[in-house]
Amino acid sequence: MNSEFVYINEVGPRDGLQNQKTILGTEDRLKLISLLIDANIPGIEVASFVNPKAVPAMEGAHEIIDGLQETLTCDISVLVPNMKGFELAQAAGAKIIAVVPSATETMNQKNINMSLKDTLDSSCKILESAKSEQLQTRAYVSVAWECPYEGVVEISTVLDIAHKLLSAGADEIILADTIGAANPASVDLLFQACVKEFNPSILSGHFHDTRAMALANVYAALTQGIRKFDSCIGGLGGCPFAPGAAGNLATEDLANMLNQMGFETQVDLQKLLEIVDFCSDKLGAPLGGRMSGWLTK
Ligand code: COA
Ligand code: ZN
Repeated sequence: MNSEFVYINEVGPRDGLQNQKTILGTEDRLKLISLLIDANIPGIEVASFVNPKAVPAMEGAHEIIDGLQETLTCDISVLVPNMKGFELAQAAGAKIIAVVPSATETMNQKNINMSLKDTLDSSCKILESAKSEQLQTRAYVSVAWECPYEGVVEISTVLDIAHKLLSAGADEIILADTIGAANPASVDLLFQACVKEFNPSILSGHFHDTRAMALANVYAALTQGIRKFDSCIGGLGGCPFAPGAAGNLATEDLANMLNQMGFETQVDLQKLLEIVDFCSDKLGAPLGGRMSGWLTK
């Protein structure tokens, strides 16, 4: 058995909620986050500082940070798409920020209305400013395997972007399969190339379950030494600007697989299942990964 720790970063309150038909107010979002903290999740991406006209579900990020000032047991991060978002996050008192460049020209245009070059320049400036303010930094490489507009992404492109982001001060690189198009073989290839150049401890995987391969992709990443993954409670998720992006890998499925494999996650699985019910209730839609019907609630 394997007793190594695997870090689960819950992205439900951001990636999960940003694209739901039902928009939750800040009170419900804070309740969800407090339940996740109570279930011992080590890290949570709680909000994004984006234009609320573009993503109405993320309105009120400042209030979310305000409501979490006393949190000590969990790494609370926020996503910032541009310098304005970073300034707003900083003013709100965010301690961990995540930039979100995509690997292709078109995806950056669709997502944040900037060219690939401008997005990378802006992300690097944000990372440099964040580090000078002693903030922790995460950097996504969105559509790292495949883009809904430009197709398969070259490994060399992802490596090049990761190098730039790390040089600018990213503490962590998250390879994101934004539309759930990766498979275990392509995950193996990309992470294998990454661990040749970077320490696996700064790499993380973010998988969507569009084609039912997210858990298999986690397994492929685990075999390359990756020990940090994003996931969404109940399999919530999708990107409003990436056609075909379905739900994320469900946190309860991830935690369950890791536990059964003998990894340490510190997460309380039973409590996760209660949170799936909370989300289903609030969003008025049945939710849950593959294993949520298995344990008695
Ligand atoms: N937060 C809040 N408002 C912002 C903002 C931010 N990070 N960045 C820009 N704005 C506001 C500007 O103040 C301006 O407001 P105004 O119309 O009241 O003057 C308006 O948005 C347009 O500003 P501009 O700089 O021209 O931005 P844009 O139209 O090019 O939009 C984004 C850029 C990134 C803000 C917008 O596209 C966005 O929020 N996208 C969401 C991306 C996202 O969440 N994707 C999913 C997660 S990966
Ligand atoms: Zn995602």
